[in-house]
Amino acid sequence: MRIYREADYGAMSRRAAGLIAAEVVRKPACVLGLATGGTPVGTYEELIAGCRRGDFSFREVHTVNLDEYKSLAPDHPQSYRYYMQTHLFDHIDIDPANTHIPDGLADDARAECARYDALTESIGFADLQLLGLGRNGHIGFNEPGDCFRKETHVVDLTQSTIDANARFFAHAGEVPRQALTMGMGCIMAARRVLLIASGEEKAEAIYQAVCGPVTPQCPASILQLHRDVVIVGDAAALEKLVKAGVPVCG
Ligand code: PGA
Repeated sequence: MRIYREADYGAMSRRAAGLIAAEVVRKPACVLGLATGGTPVGTYEELIAGCRRGDFSFREVHTVNLDEYKSLAPDHPQSYRYYMQTHLFDHIDIDPANTHIPDGLADDARAECARYDALTESIGFADLQLLGLGRNGHIGFNEPGDCFRKETHVVDLTQSTIDANARFFAHAGEVPRQALTMGMGCIMAARRVLLIASGEEKAEAIYQAVCGPVTPQCPASILQLHRDVVIVGDAAALEKLVKAGVPVCG
């Protein structure tokens, strides 16, 4: 596990985008596992700028997103399909047919989960999987629980996640209670995992993910068992790790 400590959100975003760009340069037809939420917005802005400059191209890239709210249509402004279109896909030269997100409107959500796992496997899993981190330690929408779930599945969101995501909706009552999320199988099958975190509200979750026991009570702790994890955090998010003496770059 390598940990980069950056001064602030902007520097964190530049570092993360640089690592993703390096992957696209190394392997132009790579598979990127992508994330949503507040944290990756700056990373995507940096990638858009680099693509516009002609530094790299997404023409041959495939993407698989981690999750989608159940029952939100793709054109709902809070759906993760809409997020990805507006924050990244509409501004880069990616082939729309190569971008994949679970279908939150599928009549048979379990069948959709199985389809998504088969699709992710058929395109070879992610070369690089970008992850945000929930305050409760979730990755994707793998919430704390009694076991690590391997497959893509329908999850009941925890109150902590609903509260954290309420800021994106007009009021908390509008936040969907369920989502479809990639399970730990596809996340752990990624060749490299890039976890990004910003702000002091993530400090405890990062600390538990890196220094705590490997337990489904902190889903991100499973990453301790992955052979190639890079964490990029700003100083506030990494403060507890640094205080504990965990070596970081920067
Ligand atoms: P955030 O969410 O980036 O909006 O903080 C992260 C997550 O829940 O994975």
